[in-house]
Amino acid sequence: MPLPHFIAPSILSADFARLGEQIKVAEDSGADWLHIDVMDGHFVPNLSLGPLIVEACKRVSSLPLDVHLMIEHPDRYLDSFAKAGADHISIHVEASGNVLEDLQKIKELGCSAGIAIKPQTNIEAISEALKIADIALVMSVEPGFGGQDFMAEVLPKARSIRNHLDSLGSNALIEIDGGIEVNTIALARDAGINVFVAGSSIFAYSKGIEAGILSLRKAIN
Ligand code: DX5
Ligand code: ZN
Repeated sequence: MPLPHFIAPSILSADFARLGEQIKVAEDSGADWLHIDVMDGHFVPNLSLGPLIVEACKRVSSLPLDVHLMIEHPDRYLDSFAKAGADHISIHVEASGNVLEDLQKIKELGCSAGIAIKPQTNIEAISEALKIADIALVMSVEPGFGGQDFMAEVLPKARSIRNHLDSLGSNALIEIDGGIEVNTIALARDAGINVFVAGSSIFAYSKGIEAGILSLRKAIN
């Protein structure tokens, strides 16, 4: 049975002076998850937000909060983000000192555990993690910023991950993150992706947030 398709707006591209209002519009427009990009200025050359913003999102939205940790030593912050209201927590294989232990800890905290990989990282780096992960997050841009161009060269890797998960009998979801817009989302769908993160093509869409989400939904249906 085919796995579902979820659209996950990334608040990194939202107007933080109107974050609550924009999250509500995204939710009312049919968003499935809310993607929250956490950056520490070390693992990626950008600083974004912490648990306080996750708490604020929890107060204004009933959407599952999909927290993407682009930080060194993610193990130090798992409790805080789980307590703040995260439903899914993804850590980067390139940043974690003990991936399996961290993923296990995320599950024990009651969240879905995601393993994220940068565009240059091979599937071999996450073959063990895929045995227990609930989500495989495939970066289709270099992490750190919204509004970058989609890197289609990661799609064969996404397809391999799907095949590997199927061979494990895993129903884990594959999430793609970076450069997703109306001209790239169908390519990702055809590679077996289930969760589509979109920041600038929703929150910076010329015709508004609702039109941005509807155009992406239309492109995959
Ligand atoms: C980049 C983040 C992405 C980014 C997506 O490091 O992980 O989630 O916000 O933004 P767009 O969709 O504009 O590429
Ligand atoms: Zn992200």
